Amino acid sequence: MLLEVSNIDTYYGTSHVLQGVSLSVGEGEVVALLGRNGVGKTTTLRSIIGLTPPKRGSITLLDREICGQPAYTIARLGVGYMPDDLRIFPDLTTEENLEIARRLSKRTGHWNRDRVIELFPKLGDLAKARGMNLSGGEKKMLGIGRALMANPRLILLDEPSEGLAPLVVANLIEVLGKIHEQGVTILLADQNLKFCRKVCHRGYIIEKGMIQHEGRMEEIWNNEEIIRKYLVV
Ligand SMILES: Nc1ncnc2c1ncn2[C@@H]1O[C@H](COP(=O)(O)OP(=O)(O)O)[C@@H](O)[C@H]1O
Ligand SMILES: [Mg+2]
Repeated sequence: MLLEVSNIDTYYGTSHVLQGVSLSVGEGEVVALLGRNGVGKTTTLRSIIGLTPPKRGSITLLDREICGQPAYTIARLGVGYMPDDLRIFPDLTTEENLEIARRLSKRTGHWNRDRVIELFPKLGDLAKARGMNLSGGEKKMLGIGRALMANPRLILLDEPSEGLAPLVVANLIEVLGKIHEQGVTILLADQNLKFCRKVCHRGYIIEKGMIQHEGRMEEIWNNEEIIRKYLVV
């Protein structure tokens, strides 16, 4: 397994949020972490990248223990991260936002400014536009582009489809397919089952900080009981 999360417990202060979460992602897979608001999706991604380290449990990347390592170390081992609030620098231009991500990473490979713009031509038109002037959808593209600039083997995407117009979501589905074709493994947290079905191979369903179900995306899509219990709002 590329990523193996085993039985992690993560807290915010005394609040016990993740309670024995386990999941795994194989090389080349696209995996969804599905669940309603407030169930622990973001906390799971933050636990993996090291921003909210688990108190107990293990997280391995290619059999190397990364649990408890600082976020920059985990990033340099090849884990890219797009946070739910994107963290685009508002005063920097699109290309400066991309350049910073490249400089912070010690990794080289397929992804660079031109390749990211090939993927998102709109970012080329907006190269000199400041972060604060981008629309929500444009910021999302830049967020994904920035995660790619570090040439990760695995990217963690927090709510990639959230707040996007249907046409933009359709484009995102295509783009994620291209990223996957380049050999990047993807773990994404999202609430949109229809979107996940088109993008992901497998999914985990989380509720109350515990994994409640795991299966192929087609199986989840057809499992009315699970959908009603854990996904319908
Ligand atoms: N910084 C924080 N401090 C305290 N509690 C938090 C914090 N962030 C999230 N939580 C709580 O942890 C739980 C899981 O949140 P989160 O992982 O953000 O869920 P999701 O991403 O699935 O919406 C929620 O009950 C939320 O209120
Ligand atoms: Mg979240």
